[in-house]
Amino acid sequence: MNKSTRKTVIAGNWKMNMTPSAAKAFITELAPMVAGKDGCDIVLCVPFVDIAPAVEAAKGTNIKIGAENVHFAKSGAYTGEISADMLNEVGAEYVVIGHSERRQYFGETNETVNKRVLAALAGGLKVILCVGELLGEREQGITEEIVSLQTKIALQGVTAEQLKNVIIAYEPVWAIGTGKTATPEQADEVCGIIRGVIAKLYGAEASEAFTIQYGGSMNAKNAAELLSKVNVDGGLIGGASLKTADFTTIVNAAQ
Ligand code: 13P
Repeated sequence: MNKSTRKTVIAGNWKMNMTPSAAKAFITELAPMVAGKDGCDIVLCVPFVDIAPAVEAAKGTNIKIGAENVHFAKSGAYTGEISADMLNEVGAEYVVIGHSERRQYFGETNETVNKRVLAALAGGLKVILCVGELLGEREQGITEEIVSLQTKIALQGVTAEQLKNVIIAYEPVWAIGTGKTATPEQADEVCGIIRGVIAKLYGAEASEAFTIQYGGSMNAKNAAELLSKVNVDGGLIGGASLKTADFTTIVNAAQ
């Protein structure tokens, strides 16, 4: 397995943090710190209202901007929702779909995740698809079944060509925001399981080229070890993406 053929992606997920002015200030501070770090793609997924100012602040830098969710309809009577066309026009390049917080608090299911993935890809966005097991599921020994099912359903109807615009973030729910990180071995094992699912669905070549991130309390201290694992091609970072120094350390670990 040759990791160097895959794209490493370090992405921040700001969740419900940072106002538009704070977003601008953050990116202005971060840009010179990560300038020239071409060993990975650098993405910040930000709240909807922060996207336009973030895109503006990131112009001419190597920082790409993404959203944290997208609705599955092209347009219509969906009060409070945001479409792929809207995100595209405002300059978002990526979108996080199926985050466990959406699944836990906002009724997201594997089926709605699939619909959002298809809509995002049709709308020209790159998808960061999140999968991951609950603590109870890990304890029951069904992690493999859970992440395989989440991956298979989310990718239903996604063509091999479209898959080039998808990456997966393996985020064990018990590791998110808890300070409890999966061990590098656990992260590597499940990222490998996901790669196996991609191989079954799309073939060995596609699975070798496919980027799989780890997410869940990745920070400045543990990033290098997690990223050294053969199946871990990047990180989706919550808390540590809100601090320019910590996020830069993680970007450096991916070089
Ligand atoms: P933390 O890094 O804060 O644990 O969050 C991870 C996450 O949910 C990224 O999407």
